[in-house]
Amino acid sequence: MGGARRVPLARLIAGAASLRLMRPAKRNAAIGAVCLAACGRTAAPPPAPTFDKDVAPIVYSNCAPCHRPGEVAPFPLLTYADVVKHADNIVRETSKRHMPPWLPDRGDFPIVGERRLRADQIDTIRQWVATGMKEGSPADLPPAPRWPEGWQLGKPDIVLTPDRPSIWWPEPRTCTEI
Ligand code: HEC
Repeated sequence: MGGARRVPLARLIAGAASLRLMRPAKRNAAIGAVCLAACGRTAAPPPAPTFDKDVAPIVYSNCAPCHRPGEVAPFPLLTYADVVKHADNIVRETSKRHMPPWLPDRGDFPIVGERRLRADQIDTIRQWVATGMKEGSPADLPPAPRWPEGWQLGKPDIVLTPDRPSIWWPEPRTCTEI
């Protein structure tokens, strides 16, 4: 909580303590004043999330890498129309943490490239659907994601092609000798 709210809260608490010392009529008037002061401070509800501003950044970086033509996922999630079409399914799959797929347990240390949505991102998607899936303003839309052609981690130094297929079974100390 920011320093700005600490002073009024402290004043309200001090005011409430001094109410016990007042006569009833005066006390009621004072309670009304305290409520007015507190209610006046209630923040307006946050604006409904929009696709362009709030949802597209989440989908572009966490879903589109697989949900685009030529990749493993069965349908694209690249545009407003794509996401609207699958909205209910997306809410369900992200809430259950089925999507994005990420099997490691949350451990004591972060994993590089962790593919896990934050709780507030899941909530943003849910809120967006619950408030009527507003598209928003194109000015807020981040640039469309781009991916390198071919090798996703950059061109390897060397590519070896075995002369016959082989199966490697996982073993406790599996290592590959080259
Ligand atoms: C690593 C690749 C990958 C990423 C990243 C990914 N998906 Fe998927 N998604 C898949 C694959 C593969 C399937 C189809 C197989 C399945 O349902 O498990 C799928 C299926 C789905 C389905 C359909 C599930 C069903 O059973 O009907 C939804 C909805 C979905 N993804 C949403 C998302 C959303 C939203 C994100 C981002 C927050 C996301 N996915 C990120 C690979 C991915």
